[in-house]
This record gives sequence, structure tokens and C-alpha cells, in this order.
Amino acid sequence: MKIAVIGTGYVGLVSGTCFAAWGHEVICVDKNAQKIDGLKRGVVPIYEPGLDELVERNSAAGRLRFTCNLTEAVKGALVVFIAVGTPPRAGQGDADLSFVYMAARELAPLLEDDAIVVVKSTVPVGTGDIVQKIIGSVRKTGAFSVASNPEFLREGVAIRDFLEPDRVVIGVEDERARKVLMELYGVALQAHKTPIVVTQRRTSELIKYAANAFLATKITFINELADLCEQVGSNVSELALGMGLDKRIGTSFLNAGPGYGGSCFPKDTMALLRTAQDYGVSVRIVEETVTANEARKRRMALKVMDALEGDVEGRTIAVLGLTFKPDTDDMRDAPSVPLIETLQRFGAIIRAHDPVGMENAGRILSGVEFFDDPYECAHNADAAVVITEWDSIRKLDLARLKKTMRQAVLIDLRNAFEQGVAEEIGFRVSAIGRSTTARYDGSSSTALPHMAERVQPGPRAQGA
Ligand code: UDX
Repeated sequence: MKIAVIGTGYVGLVSGTCFAAWGHEVICVDKNAQKIDGLKRGVVPIYEPGLDELVERNSAAGRLRFTCNLTEAVKGALVVFIAVGTPPRAGQGDADLSFVYMAARELAPLLEDDAIVVVKSTVPVGTGDIVQKIIGSVRKTGAFSVASNPEFLREGVAIRDFLEPDRVVIGVEDERARKVLMELYGVALQAHKTPIVVTQRRTSELIKYAANAFLATKITFINELADLCEQVGSNVSELALGMGLDKRIGTSFLNAGPGYGGSCFPKDTMALLRTAQDYGVSVRIVEETVTANEARKRRMALKVMDALEGDVEGRTIAVLGLTFKPDTDDMRDAPSVPLIETLQRFGAIIRAHDPVGMENAGRILSGVEFFDDPYECAHNADAAVVITEWDSIRKLDLARLKKTMRQAVLIDLRNAFEQGVAEEIGFRVSAIGRSTTARYDGSSSTALPHMAERVQPGPRAQGA
């Protein structure tokens, strides 16, 4: 099948490459000439394990091509995927759909008869209807279909998520589009017996937001339970296991941490709220999730201060892990950013290490010294804070880390280390959702409310 993919961002590039890996003839198109030139030479502009190799292999086989020329891409294509960005509109909370609409306008006159335009970008309910109108207004003759096919790719494991998904969701309004998309996915996924949910376009569009909002809520639930565990002396990891083994609940997405970040959950929860607001519907649980998560990310700095006798002025803090999660260089909405900025406001000196995210982090954070070597990063530090659970960070030699530090204080916001082991080595440990050995007696009651006021200026965050 000849497929065109518009947009070589994260979603477009992974999807296009994986369609080619399934044996289709794929052409990816983007306006960014530098990116396309790079891709033609095998330079993959994003960090995603396994993607370089897959791009190289499929390009060499002639199944995957890159171009800046939309006419060339759309010519002869039976399916045209729109996979351009839908960033949040500044200050609005809803998704900016201008790139989607522009792609629809530009591809309309170039479409082959009976071609199927599939919106893969994450878009609010009703976007497919507008795309249909835009294309229809340009094309006076010739049939075409507009379908929805959201992606559920997690950064870091996107290729596996694409090739072996839990399910595929297809939103169609006509039989021809259903048949073609079933053929596209059904044959490839036969071996995995992957369920394909075929539904109306509007339902498909909403499924994506509903899934992400639910996962964000699940994480927020366990994060709040972690706070309770700390107070009552329970262990959140064991609590999550005890709950999650109930098949109705499931163990995944129950890892308590510093709050969710990334390119999807923060943006998609806000966009869902906006849609609900537009239609006069209240989705209070999502509203609370957003508020609780924002407050949590800021509150993590207080956890660090608490472990350092309530005062970080002039103290050196080694931050281990900066990206919003491991196996990505993505810093979007990463919990490390508010944490570091808050600690800096309170006078801390920040040294940081991340296996791949330091270049992106350097564009966002100022006054931070970056280190390729985690032990060098921790040299003479008063505390080490684990924010991202990279494998390489989990495998650090804690005894060696302790030796290089000025004070053996470990604030483990991902429960990356066995608390008992770290304590045996001599660390005072403050972890998530378990009792702590790194709390300064008596400082919490006096220092925290005062600090909370300074770091949580927004009215919504107060009391959260
Ligand atoms: C997410 C969705 O999982 C994916 O289906 C969608 O297409 C895009 O958004 P992604 O943002 O890549 O994927 O990362 P994900 O692994 O879902 O993690 C999101 C955030 O939640 C990260 O900050 C992560 O650290 C956090 N998280 C996740 C937790 O804190 N605890 C968990 O148990 C799981």
C-alpha cells in the first residue's frame, strides 16, 4: 500500500517507519528542509531507542523515503496520514490545530480519488468533521474519506508500542475507509491477535483523551496514596502491588513519583478539560488530577528542603536524571524543571546529570552545571536527588556515590534504590511513599508552611 505521512515529528516518524517495516511503501513529508535532508542521510532528529536502525534499514530497502514536496508525497497515495503537531495554545489550554488545518488545505487539491486522509495527530472531538469540510471545499469532484486513528505511543518504547499495540482504534464514517484501514492494520497485527476497535470518528478522537486522562488520574491517585503512606508508615510500592494484582485495577501506571510530565498527559488533560468546558460538562476528576499534579511537582522541592534541615541556601545539590522519564531526551513538562528552579530560588547550587537530556535541559534551565559523569556530578554535594529512573542511574554504585559527596543524603523521588541498602551504606534516605530517615526533626512544622507560601503562589495550588 502506498502511504504518505505528513509531519516527521515523533508520531509521524515512528508511524511512517513502522508502516514501512510492515512492508508498505511510505513517504514522509515535512516542511523543515534541514530535518528532511538529515533523514535522507539517516540522521534521526529525535532520541528513540531502535528508531535509527529501523529508519536506516527501511530506507535502504527503498520502502521509506523523505521529501519536502507534498505533491510528490501525496501522488499515488491511498492513505495520507496527518501527523503534525497540536501544541497547547499559550494561555488557552486547548490544542492549536492550525497545522492540522493547514495540512488539510494543502493536501486537498493533490489527493488521488478515493484516497483516505487519516488524522493521527491528537485532536479534539469534531476535528475530523472540520478536516472533511476543508478538503471538501477545495475539492469539488472526486471521492475521499476522512478517518481518525489516534496513536498510543510511549516515548522510549514507541516502536514496540506501534508494532505490538494493546489495541488499534479506528474512527471511520464510511465502509471504504474501514476496509482499507482494517487491511492496513489487520494483516500486520494478525499474529498478535491485536483487537481493533472500529468506531465513529468522534468516539475515536475522544478515546485518545480519555485514555490519557485516565492514566494521568491513575498516577495521581497512587501519588496521593504515597503521601498518605509516608504519614501512616506504609510502603506505597507494596500497596500498589497489592492493589494492582486485582485484574480490574492492573499493576501498570501505579509507580508513585514526582508527578507526571511529558508531551502528552499535561497537554491532553488540559485539552480534555477545555472540550468538556465548551460542551458544559464537568469532568471534575480530571480537573483535580491536573491541579494535584501541578502542586505535587512544585512540592517536590519541599521534600528536598525537608531532607536538608529545611534550608538549602548555599548547599550543593546533585540532580540525577532530568528528562520527564527514562529513555527519552524530552524535557517537556519534566518535574525536574520546577524542582530545580525552586531550589535555585532558595539559594541552592545545582549540579545535574542526565544520560541524554542535558542538551535539551540546558535550553530551559539556567545556572545549572551539567556533568556527563554522575559521580563527578555528586562531588561535594550535600544531597543527591533522583528525579528520573534511568537504568544507568539505578545501577549507580551507592558506596562510590557516598564517598564523593559531602553529606550522605539521598532523596529518591522514583524509589529507584532499595531504601534499606542505601541506608546500610550510610545514606539518610527520603523516598516516595515510605518512611524516611532523612527528615530533620522539628523543621517541617515551622519551615514548610512558610516555604509553601513562597513556592505555591497560584490560588489553586494553595492547600493542595
Ligand atoms: C503517554 C501515553 O502513555 C501514550 O499512550 C501516549 O500516546 C502519549 O503519552 P509518554 O508521555 O511517552 O506516553 O510517557 P508515559 O510512559 O505514559 O509516562 C508519562 C509520565 O507519567 C512520565 O512523567 C512518567 O514518569 C509518569 N509515570 C508513568 C509515573 O509517574 N508513574 C507511572 O506509573 C507511569
